[in-house]
Amino acid sequence: MGAVIAPSILSADFSRLGAEIKDAEAGGAALVHVDVMDGHFVPNLTVGPAVTRAVRRVTQLPVDCHLMIEEPDRYVAAFAEAGADMISVHVEVARHLERTASAIQDAGAKAGVVLNPATPLETLSEILPVADYVLLMSVNPGFGGQTLIPSVLDKARRLRAWIDRLGLATRIEIDGGVTLDNLDEVAASGVDVIVAGSAIFGSGDPRGATAAMVRKLAAIAEQERRV
Ligand code: DX5
Ligand code: ZN
Repeated sequence: MGAVIAPSILSADFSRLGAEIKDAEAGGAALVHVDVMDGHFVPNLTVGPAVTRAVRRVTQLPVDCHLMIEEPDRYVAAFAEAGADMISVHVEVARHLERTASAIQDAGAKAGVVLNPATPLETLSEILPVADYVLLMSVNPGFGGQTLIPSVLDKARRLRAWIDRLGLATRIEIDGGVTLDNLDEVAASGVDVIVAGSAIFGSGDPRGATAAMVRKLAAIAEQERRV
């Protein structure tokens, strides 16, 4: 199974969000990534449960909420209730991470744990069997349109090997700085879900940009199948 594309609406035109999401969906998006920022954990402010609910209404795709906020416990239920299928929290802020992950699952969503680029993989050792997915930040969170930090690809490879060694079904998502040009390197690191924001919504043609990425991933998967 090859990797899938998760367009991040952070770089979308919010005045026509529904149409932008529909375009990405028509291009072959597998899920919709919603970046939630509180101005504390990251310097930027974005959206919350109300926009998540609006996204939920315009698409059948799974809605993936990435919480870049200081107190995720206070908001998990609100995002689940707004229709999030996947909710991820940063290990750097979740003081009782097992409780938070369980609360996400109890609310009926998949629980993800997120690592900033400088946060070691080892911080996952106790939570890995609990988490449904791990989100590796390949930029420092806060803004779209940054450049991918290459060392994170080695981190992804090490995580892939670790998950496979334990025989877990945990999925790996990567987020930040992915473009059509570096997509092959990113896919080769063994990730399952690839977030792309500006490469899709900054392109002026979300449908075409998503389709180009999906085609490239399909070609990579086909090549791997033949080896
Ligand atoms: C960054 C966000 C990302 C962002 C990715 O803090 O978590 O999801 O939207 O945007 P690009 O693909 O432009 O790096
Ligand atoms: Zn994100």
